[in-house]
Amino acid sequence: MNIVLDVNVILDLLLKRGLDYHSKVALFDQLRAQGATFWFAACALPSLEYIHAQEVKHLIRSGRINTTLSPAAFARQQLDAFLPSVAIISTLGCHWQDIPPDHPDREDALVSLAAASIPGQTILWTGDRTFQSAAPDLPVYDHLGLKQYLEETASRPPAIPFVNLAAQQLQIRDRVERGIITVLKHGSYIMGPEIKELETKLASYAGVKHAITCSSGTDALLMPLMAYGVGPGDAIFTTPFTFIATAEVIQLLGATPVFVDIDPKTFNIDPKALAEAVISLGKNPRTEHLKPRGVIPVDLFGQPADYDRINAVAQKHGLFVLEDAAQSFGATYKGRQTGSLADVAAISFFPAKPLGCYGDGGAVLTDNDELAAIMRSIRVHGQGTHKYDNVRLGLNGRMDTLQAAIVLAKLGVFGQEITARQEVARRYSQALQKVVEVPYVAPECSSAWAQYSVLSDRREVLQAKLKEAGVPTAIYYPLPLHLQGAFAHMGHKAGDFPVSEAASKRIFSLPMHPYLNSATQEKICSAF
Ligand SMILES: Cc1ncc(COP(=O)(O)O)c(C=O)c1O
Repeated sequence: MNIVLDVNVILDLLLKRGLDYHSKVALFDQLRAQGATFWFAACALPSLEYIHAQEVKHLIRSGRINTTLSPAAFARQQLDAFLPSVAIISTLGCHWQDIPPDHPDREDALVSLAAASIPGQTILWTGDRTFQSAAPDLPVYDHLGLKQYLEETASRPPAIPFVNLAAQQLQIRDRVERGIITVLKHGSYIMGPEIKELETKLASYAGVKHAITCSSGTDALLMPLMAYGVGPGDAIFTTPFTFIATAEVIQLLGATPVFVDIDPKTFNIDPKALAEAVISLGKNPRTEHLKPRGVIPVDLFGQPADYDRINAVAQKHGLFVLEDAAQSFGATYKGRQTGSLADVAAISFFPAKPLGCYGDGGAVLTDNDELAAIMRSIRVHGQGTHKYDNVRLGLNGRMDTLQAAIVLAKLGVFGQEITARQEVARRYSQALQKVVEVPYVAPECSSAWAQYSVLSDRREVLQAKLKEAGVPTAIYYPLPLHLQGAFAHMGHKAGDFPVSEAASKRIFSLPMHPYLNSATQEKICSAF
């Protein structure tokens, strides 16, 4: 819950004003204990500073504040100590436009309009009986009204989100605003300086030479395949237990996805089955005409595939390996970061991903200079030495500068979010290990926990129970790709990839994000 504090509330708390001062402090402490985020509207700061300074002067003169400091120094010190405990919400130019022409108090109007721009449940707390909001849907209460509201809603807890981007935004709102405003100011909307900065930071995070941002995780898969010249007659080995994009890009280029079943514990491509599939390609009359070219392992749900074994198979047969790290950026394999585990890697900044933007975005990571140069060209219509020199066919595959600014803001908290995800996963596994099959993370891996997915023969019953308790769940993935219409021409049938098929019948995912607290998790787990 977000509580926007009006000037008079802060003055009451700081200066111990009024007979009901203790009740207000108790309410403030109660809200804080319940995890509320307190906000203050930047537009009201001059009023707060002015009135606070006047009142402090008066209280010192009348002997009710005893200090050796000057009134100005005392006032400054008190505000400096308090303000870091509140988040600041900015007033935008559009808020000024939204003030009704006959509104009696423009500051009240701006405070309420700024408050209404905070995502999630937001309440304005004021002691001013004449406070007039300009935001029709914003609840405005004095401390008695707020207490009553909390009592009334105690039995109606807020909905549990599957992914909580609003909670994340509250942590980084100032960085996001700064990023957006900087782009609005410099105006380099295409390939602005934020793109270069993001690419440098991504490359350094993953420990690779090149990071090339692009318009989506799907294009991040497509660009390396185009750079390798993949086309008709080529076989690319991949898993059928993934999001469509992984195999879609192969087929879009006219090449053939050759599915390989997964490991039942990690849900990632089985290296032993991969080795067998490469060898049997030429022995099968349906595939003998195909040339083995590459492998796309997927780091499903955030856990890296077994790259040492996959890379060994690939090396033996002269195949490239493209790591689909769309779900796993931030995870590690044998101490190395995902994105650095194969010849080239694709990551996605789809909003729900561990590192997401506020739209579509992605990046390709590699140590290979030549491949990087070709992919940079492909990203911009096969560009050569200048804009109108087109040396190959490519894409309009650039990432927007604005989206890069968002990812940069999120990178600032990404490390702590990955750590928080470990704790959320640990709590789930501890609570649910006797109820369902909880995720297995190989000892040489850490997961980025894009999803927390469990297996059960009672999936339907459990999903229904959770739904009844207000807990959202999702199934990734209900039908493996070899049984999807898009690949029907390949002639696969049920039973071809039994491990993937069994997983798709028993798997479901629980709410997972770094801001999931233990109380909410207890509620989720007790609904099983
Ligand atoms: C495994 C996998 N690969 C590729 C993609 C495609 O990423 P995007 O949605 O950014 O195009 C996704 C997105 O969900 C994914 O989960």
